[in-house]
Amino acid sequence: MPSKTDELISQGLGKAKVMKGAIKGLGGVFRTLMEQHGQASGLLHRIKSSDDVAKRAELWETVRAQLLAHERSEMEVIYRELHYDPRTRAIAEHHDQEAGELEALIRELDALPVGDVQWAETFDTLVERVQHHVSEEEGEIFPKAQDVLGKDRVKSLDATLHDAFDAQLRMA
Ligand SMILES: [Fe+2]
Repeated sequence: MPSKTDELISQGLGKAKVMKGAIKGLGGVFRTLMEQHGQASGLLHRIKSSDDVAKRAELWETVRAQLLAHERSEMEVIYRELHYDPRTRAIAEHHDQEAGELEALIRELDALPVGDVQWAETFDTLVERVQHHVSEEEGEIFPKAQDVLGKDRVKSLDATLHDAFDAQLRMA
């Protein structure tokens, strides 16, 4: 488990994301997803800036599970809906492909020792992919998806997403 300080930093980044989301007019389930982005980004940054292999390994255990649960639950709850609408179908297909690539990178990292040079290189690639995922979703996909789904649906999907995330976290 990460230390109390790590948790606080990552929660703080999550909250900062939520404030940014509010400015962009995103609500309900999209605020939750942005909060998860902030928390994962905070943990990835902590790994990158730590020289302590044991610490990196410990943080990696937490963030890999969070990333898998995030991707799988957003596919299950949000992108499944976006597949149905012709206005967002292409976006959903694009996201599914990138989610598969992200998951493959996590599997590669799982197969390597955390102290290995190859691990560090693959980890840098993963960080880039996550940054790309975050900016694409928050900048383009979420605002469009919110328009398509409508405010009420965006609000009601929040509880569904929380349940799906918790279930995925237990399996990650
Ligand atoms: Fe996401």
